[in-house]
Amino acid sequence: MSKIVVTWPISESAIAKLKEKHEVVVNDKEQALTAEELLQFVAGADAILCLLSNKITREVLDAAGPQLKIVATMSVGYDHIDLAATKAKNVTVAATPGMSDEAVAEHAVTLMLSLAKSIPQADAFVRAGKYKGWDPTLFVGPELGGKVLGIVGVGHIGSTIAKIAGFGLGMAIGYNDVKPNPDFESQFNATYFELDALLPIADVITLHVPLLPTTTHLMNAERLAKMKPTAYLINTSRGPVVDEAALVSALQNKQIAGAGLDVYENEPSLTPGLIDLPNVVLTPHIASATRESREAMAHKAADNIIAVLSGQPAPDDVKAP
Ligand code: DGY
Repeated sequence: MSKIVVTWPISESAIAKLKEKHEVVVNDKEQALTAEELLQFVAGADAILCLLSNKITREVLDAAGPQLKIVATMSVGYDHIDLAATKAKNVTVAATPGMSDEAVAEHAVTLMLSLAKSIPQADAFVRAGKYKGWDPTLFVGPELGGKVLGIVGVGHIGSTIAKIAGFGLGMAIGYNDVKPNPDFESQFNATYFELDALLPIADVITLHVPLLPTTTHLMNAERLAKMKPTAYLINTSRGPVVDEAALVSALQNKQIAGAGLDVYENEPSLTPGLIDLPNVVLTPHIASATRESREAMAHKAADNIIAVLSGQPAPDDVKAP
């Protein structure tokens, strides 16, 4: 019987599935383990099922012990896991790609619509008793139909956004990725641009790239300056993809019209000035928070562990470079 440690009380049915053949220890505090607690919690584990808020360092792998076979994160992103260390120790790392596409895409589109329709401000206005009658000048914003949506990264989530915004809202799709994607182009009538060529023509830029050395501060001051002054920036990927201080300046100086953010450079801290801006919509890293997605993510993480503990490859091995 192998030992599986689960750092959060995830879906009961996913836990039950793990318990069929293994010993399972769940942190049921509903409170993230501190780095110190995590070291103790993983001791003796053959498998760790973690969240993106658990930093899986070399120290954590050492604390688990040499029998550790897999770290399965219940997230698409795996930038919180030291891949060099897992590779050196021959520990598989698996993520949950494809389990939150609709959820995250719906959230990115919601942020975009909230900015365009001034939803937070309009809601606050009504609640404050300021609505005194129909006024043709109240909260007038841009229409999104026919405008250009620039999608940066057209994996599972980027493609789902293209479906919703292209087919649903009638937006024209421009995109950037490491290389052109002919399937994506024919499916969504989309056009490939170098990033620096996409920024000046897009009315909305939405980011869907993993956090890598090459994508850290992908949106820096220089790139933000290339965007239209009427454009919105949406980030549901990882905070450090955007230079948040540069973004605050760009918003303060009205270099761009607004930003919808679900992720932050130093999460959960925010860059000073961000919350004082009227032209931002901020959510607390909840883009994948649908019941459907959470269930699917938990089961996917469990399935990866079950496969590895039964001697099979993990279906969602992230294949460390
Ligand atoms: C992910 O899956 O990586 C999201 O950021 C968390 O849901």
